Amino acid sequence: MTLPISVGVVGCGYWGPLLVRNLKNLADCNLKAVCDTSEARLKHLTGLYSDIEGVTDYTRFLNGLELDAVVIATPVKYHYPLAKASLLAGKHTFIEKPMASSAAECEELIEIADRNGLVLMIDHTFLYSSPVQKIVEIVRAGDIGDIRYINSRRLNLGLFQKDINVAWDLAPHDISIILHILGEFPVAVNCQGNAHVTPNVEDVTNMSLTFRQNRFATVQSSWLEPRKVREMTIVGTRRMIVYDDLKNRGKIQVYDVRVERPPHYDTFAEFHYSYHYGDSYIPHIQQEEPLKAVCQHFIDSIEAGTQPMTGGREGLEMVRILEAASASLKAKGAPVTFSPSADGVSVSKPTKALRVVRAAATAGA
Ligand SMILES: NC(=O)c1ccc[n+]([C@@H]2O[C@H](COP(=O)([O-])OP(=O)(O)OC[C@H]3O[C@@H](n4cnc5c(N)ncnc54)[C@H](O)[C@@H]3O)[C@@H](O)[C@H]2O)c1
Repeated sequence: MTLPISVGVVGCGYWGPLLVRNLKNLADCNLKAVCDTSEARLKHLTGLYSDIEGVTDYTRFLNGLELDAVVIATPVKYHYPLAKASLLAGKHTFIEKPMASSAAECEELIEIADRNGLVLMIDHTFLYSSPVQKIVEIVRAGDIGDIRYINSRRLNLGLFQKDINVAWDLAPHDISIILHILGEFPVAVNCQGNAHVTPNVEDVTNMSLTFRQNRFATVQSSWLEPRKVREMTIVGTRRMIVYDDLKNRGKIQVYDVRVERPPHYDTFAEFHYSYHYGDSYIPHIQQEEPLKAVCQHFIDSIEAGTQPMTGGREGLEMVRILEAASASLKAKGAPVTFSPSADGVSVSKPTKALRVVRAAATAGA
């Protein structure tokens, strides 16, 4: 791969310009062009960055600009057709969360990327953030004991979406963090919710994910709350972590608290729960913009010819859970279970096909 890597961004609404800003600042990346169906959005972006080209025609964007990679930040219903065309045009492809509108679409995109030895990365932004990485470090070090449950709340007023409900919009952040911390795929999903404002588009949802060994996680998502809330509690057998992403300092606090039941007792009078109240501490976290790390990881994966930490398989896992949540919503919260064959694939699995195609390319060079 010749450096710098030429990249184009499609979709310049709210999130696209943030990707543009971060990609512009990376050493090994040449952000060449932006594409949008809206002339006004292109004018805005090319006004900010005079050296990038604005294109409305996606076919010309893909075939006429010698791009190595395409970044897709459009509404979710366009992820699949745009990503498919990008991969078929031989471009490494980055897709915003959630990867696509159905698991079948995700599977097809993974197959095309693997067959052509292309990097396919999904933006599960929070896995690249320092607080989440610190939480994972604490959990993996065994500091909090075995995880009993995780509770997550992501609430605010708006932004209302028309094509996806609040679970598809906000819950991917929580779900990606939960799967990463627990390192496994749920066995069942329940989801309840209501569409109060737009018919058939739920603006409030409560999801629960059931995991093996009696572990579970709850994810509350809302566009209909007066206060913005971004909170997660991870309850372990020894300690508990509270993660508040809205705090400027002390986003993570580790509490040395637990409750234990005495192992032996003969009479009811002897039965006492044992409450442990120890110190709490705030781990030091280096503040960095997660999206910068996300963009760097995409460029690094292309350069190295390796699978990203959040590739197509992680995108597919997420969409399977969201599809199950939608099915459960329709069934008024009834559990939707996964067959063992749909079981989760752990993160960071190298794809053979990618390595094989790269090796062949090197040998032929
Ligand atoms: N990772 C995160 O934290 C995060 C945060 C916000 C949004 N997102 C994701 O980013 C994506 C975009 O969200 P947004 O809020 O920026 O949406 P948006 O509606 O603000 O912007 C979408 C842009 O895409 C353009 N567009 C639509 N269809 C197109 C097409 N076929 N070809 C070219 N351009 C097209 C629109 O004109 C618009 O400018 C979504 O997938 C969303 O889930 C991710």
